[in-house]
Parts: sequence; structure tokens; C-alpha cells
Amino acid sequence: MKPTSSVRILHFWILYLSSNVSIPAWAEPQHLKTSGIRPTNLQHPGNRLHILPLLLWSKRPSSGDDKRTTKIPSNFTILPPEDPSVSRYREYLRTNTSHPNPNYDTAVAWIKEQAQAIGIEYKKIDFDPPGLFIIRLKWPGSDPMERSSLLLNSHIDVVPVDSSKWTYDAFAAVKDDKGNIYGRGAQDRKSQGAQYLEAIRRLKMRGFSPRRTVYVTFVPDEEVGGDRGMATFLKASEFMDMNVSLALDEGAATMDDVYPIFYGERSVFRVRITATGRSSHTAMMLKDNAATKLNKALGLLFVFRDEQINASNPDGNIENVTSINLSQIGGGTSPNAVPSEIWAIVDMRLRLRPTWTFSNLTNLLDSICNQSGNGVSYKVLLNLEIKEESSLSESDFWWRTIRKSFDEMGWKMKPQIFAGASDARHLRKAGIQAYGFSPLLFTEQLGHQDNEFLNENTFLNGITVYEKLIPKLANARE
Ligand SMILES: *[C@@H]1O[C@H](CO)[C@@H](O)[C@H](O)[C@H]1NC(C)=O
Ligand SMILES: *[C@@H]1O[C@H](CO)[C@@H](O)[C@H](O)[C@H]1NC(C)=O
Ligand SMILES: *[C@@H]1O[C@H](CO)[C@@H](O)[C@H](O)[C@H]1NC(C)=O
Ligand SMILES: *[C@@H]1O[C@H](CO)[C@@H](O)[C@H](O)[C@H]1NC(C)=O
Ligand SMILES: *[C@@H]1O[C@H](CO)[C@@H](O)[C@H](O)[C@H]1NC(C)=O
Ligand SMILES: *[C@@H]1O[C@H](CO)[C@@H](O)[C@H](O)[C@H]1NC(C)=O
Ligand SMILES: *[C@@H]1O[C@H](CO)[C@@H](O)[C@H](O)[C@H]1NC(C)=O
Ligand SMILES: *[C@@H]1O[C@H](CO)[C@@H](O)[C@H](O)[C@H]1NC(C)=O
Repeated sequence: MKPTSSVRILHFWILYLSSNVSIPAWAEPQHLKTSGIRPTNLQHPGNRLHILPLLLWSKRPSSGDDKRTTKIPSNFTILPPEDPSVSRYREYLRTNTSHPNPNYDTAVAWIKEQAQAIGIEYKKIDFDPPGLFIIRLKWPGSDPMERSSLLLNSHIDVVPVDSSKWTYDAFAAVKDDKGNIYGRGAQDRKSQGAQYLEAIRRLKMRGFSPRRTVYVTFVPDEEVGGDRGMATFLKASEFMDMNVSLALDEGAATMDDVYPIFYGERSVFRVRITATGRSSHTAMMLKDNAATKLNKALGLLFVFRDEQINASNPDGNIENVTSINLSQIGGGTSPNAVPSEIWAIVDMRLRLRPTWTFSNLTNLLDSICNQSGNGVSYKVLLNLEIKEESSLSESDFWWRTIRKSFDEMGWKMKPQIFAGASDARHLRKAGIQAYGFSPLLFTEQLGHQDNEFLNENTFLNGITVYEKLIPKLANARE
């Protein structure tokens, strides 16, 4: 143990002998004993000579010298390294696939890279006119001839962002210190696409091989109706050859521990209510007034809206509820002229059933217009009938398999009708049994909202869910 500088030794020795410094912990008698050094009374300056070499050695400068290190605040936590699955999901979130002009290239390249790394077949299927496409990954089953295949669908596109309302860049996938990952699509539905891929990656690494062929599709335009993606794909020969019988598609987050499973969707009934009256200068106040009539009509409609809200089940099951929302209102040409015509667009969502059809709504609107005065009428802008529902019957093979799988895993579920519309409706129309399921428990539903985020642990738990569910479905015997 050669001293590096005699000046340093002398300086130290003078300081040490003349000071009242406490003995370092390692030089306490009990420690010296275990190191084979004879303990002495170290408080006596003369005896300190024994441990001089050790003291010098312990004082040598090192890179981690505490005097040169910034003080670490007491609330500072050192984050564990990020799970690589989370890092890959964040890469996907950084692709800007938002409407109205989604840029698919980086997202598609990401999907291709994942498929290649996992070792499953990647195919981009293009349709006419150019620009329409879907991405299809294929994990071949060991006995596909006897079994129909399983389809895991999610969409690449996301709804637009009003960046002035976001705390972080919506395409930076920022993760805060709680592990919340912010990004458009964090829930709806890049989480789901990334979770499918991670589950398959893990299953393949474990050596699992499915009996049925498992397909993973990534579609480009779910958020604007799905006509160019899923609906087009379902008519293509590539789809026919896949022999799909069961599809999983998007679901929704839930605040509790009960997974919502969506087996159907509500139909859309959209109308424009128009009221007419006499035009005049705003300084006059004529009785025949368009706005007064529209106000009356909307008032009556909102009584019905309140009834529906009152009828809503507190658990969020809206299957027997008709939602009514005023989305646009307009009319008039100048701030000082009373318009002769004023209008409102009202969007309604309903579950069609034998006792509740579009004609119940037209009856209601007829009556409302009649009560609101002369010159009040409505025009149907959209009547999108969504009747197909996937089975909830115990005699149905797929429903029984899903329900039993959930039971075996101890997962709770609540089958229900989806509040919005998704590509699952196209699948159901094509005769495929489709269930909407997103494994996002204890999570506020934030799809389409500002500052959409998902916690990394929720994301990771969802991978585990698919990792257990996919083998059950892929190996189920009909
Ligand atoms: C840690 O403490 C500092 C100083 O009190 C404070 O500015 C900072 O916001 C704290 N950080 C967290 C994550 O609480
Ligand atoms: C994302 O894409 C949209 C639509 O093309 C564009 O308007 C927006 O500026 C992009 N956002 C960022 C952060 O690049
Ligand atoms: C499609 O799946 C059915 C089982 O649902 C199976 O009987 C049939 O052989 C499969 N067809 C092909 C072409 O693989
Ligand atoms: C809805 O419920 C509230 C509170 O119970 C009640 O005051 C209101 O009258 C109800 N509205 C309708 C239209 O039934
Ligand atoms: C909806 O109505 C059906 C039939 O009237 C009923 O069986 C079901 O329980 C209702 N659902 C809810 C959530 O109230
Ligand atoms: C639309 O109206 C229904 C009630 O009719 C309500 O439950 C729902 O939250 C409304 N949606 C929005 C976006 O306000
Ligand atoms: C809907 O209309 C049908 C046929 O007119 C009627 O039998 C049924 O009672 C109506 N449903 C409701 C909830 O008013
Ligand atoms: C409302 O309906 C009644 C009976 O069907 C009819 O006599 C009346 O003229 C209607 N009122 C309006 C404003 O259309």
C-alpha cells in the first residue's frame, strides 16, 4: 500500500492526530478483529498508528468521491429499467397515424419489424383503388385443415389531436413517474395491437404452437367507418381463404375488475330537425318565430333524453338505452336578422330490438314536430342498422369456450352492447363471431379524449391476459 504523495500523508497524519474525528466504522474493534488486526484503543492517538495504512488507503480518491457528487433529493427514486415490451409499445405510439391524413408508413414498418423479430409471416394486402390495404400476420396452426382460424384485430389509425389541450406531445409517448404513458392511441387501440404481438412473442419463446392458425390484422380506418379497410378486406379472396370463425376486436377500459365483453353494437339514427318562421329585423318580435319552435322541439326531445339517462344502468350497461345528443345547430345569415329557418342535428344510438326500432323514433319525432308548431319537420340523415350480435348462448361453441376460459382463469366478465361502433360490426355482418375485448382493468376510459394515457403496468397485465387466452382459443376443440 504505497502512499501516492508524501505531502498528502503528512497533512493527513497531522490532521488526524490533532482532531477529534470519530473512528470509521470499519476501524471499530470488532471489525478489525474479523480482519485479523489486533484491536487497540484507537481513541489514543499513539495507537492510531496501527491503522495508518488502512486509513490512507480508505482516503484515496475514487470516481465516486462523495464530496464531488450532487446531493440526491430524498424523494428521488431510481426507476427500474423499462420492460422491453413497453419500449416497443411506445415506439408504436410515436407513429402519427391520426386522421384526417394518417401517415401509415412508420406504423406499418414497425409492425413488419415486430413480425420479423417474432418470426411470423407478414403480408401487406393492397386493394383497389390504390391506398386501401390491411396488414395481416399469420401464425400457422399445426392442424389448420380440421379447424377454422382465430383472428385478432386492431386498428392502426387514431383520432385527431388538439395539441393545445395536451400536456405532452401526443406522439412522443412520454412516460411520467407514475408509469403513465401519454399518447393518442395509448388506449384506442395501439395498446391492443402491441399486446397481441407481445403475447405471441412470449408464447413463441415458450415453444407454444397453436393448433388453429392465428391471424393478426392491423386495419387502417376503423375510426372513420372501416369501409376502406375491414369492410373491403372481408370481401377479398385472401379473407375467404383464411376460414376465420372467431375474431377478437376492440373493447373498452373498465374502472373495476370486471371485463366488459362486447357482443353487439348500437345502430345509428341521425336527423336534422328544421323549424321555419317569419324572417324579420331583430328589432321586431313576431309570433311566428323559427327559433321558438326549434326550442320547443328540442325541449321535448330532451325530456326523452332525461328519461333515457334515468333509465341508464349505473354499471354503464347502456344496452337498453337510446342515447340522444345534439351535435350541431345552425341557421341565420346576419346577427341583426331573425332567420326564417333554423336547424339542429341530433345523433341517436339505439339497440334495435323487437319492441324498439327506428319506427319508434320516427313516431316520437313526428309527435314532437307536431307539438312544436307549424313548419317544424325532420329529415333522416343516417339510419345505420346494426342488427348482428354474436351469441351469448351456452349452446354456442365459441361463447361457451370464451366463458369457460374466463372462469378457469378466475376472470370476471360482463357481456354488453358496445356504446359506439367498431369494425366488429363488419365482421359480424360477414358471419364471423366477433367479441370486443380489451384487457384494461382499473382504468378510466380515455379513448378519443385529450391526454389519453395508459399505465405501463396495465399494458403489461393485458399481455399476460392474451398470453393465457390465445392458447385456450387457438387449441379449443369443436
Ligand atoms: C422532489 O422534491 C423537490 C424539492 O422539494 C421538488 O421540487 C420536486 O417536485 C419533488 N419531486 C417529486 C417527484 O415529488
Ligand atoms: C400528426 O398528423 C396529423 C395529420 O396528418 C398532423 O395534422 C399533425 O400535425 C401531426 N402531428 C405531429 C405531432 O406530427
Ligand atoms: C374450415 O373450418 C372448418 C371447421 O370450422 C373445417 O371443418 C374446414 O375443414 C375448414 N376449411 C378449410 C378449407 O380449412
Ligand atoms: C329523472 O330523474 C330525476 C331524479 O330522480 C327526476 O327529477 C326527473 O324528473 C327524471 N326525469 C324524467 C324525464 O323522468
Ligand atoms: C335489457 O332488456 C332486456 C329485455 O327487456 C333485459 O333482459 C335486460 O336485463 C336489460 N338490460 C339491462 C342492462 O337492463
Ligand atoms: C349522449 O347522450 C347520452 C344520453 O342520451 C349520454 O349517456 C351520453 O353520455 C351522451 N354522449 C355525449 C358524448 O355527451
Ligand atoms: C315501439 O313501437 C312498437 C310498434 O308500434 C310498439 O309495439 C312498442 O310498444 C314501441 N316501444 C316502446 C318502448 O314504446
Ligand atoms: C298535429 O296532429 C293533429 C292530429 O293528427 C293535427 O290535427 C294537427 O294539425 C297537427 N298539428 C301540426 C302543427 O301539424
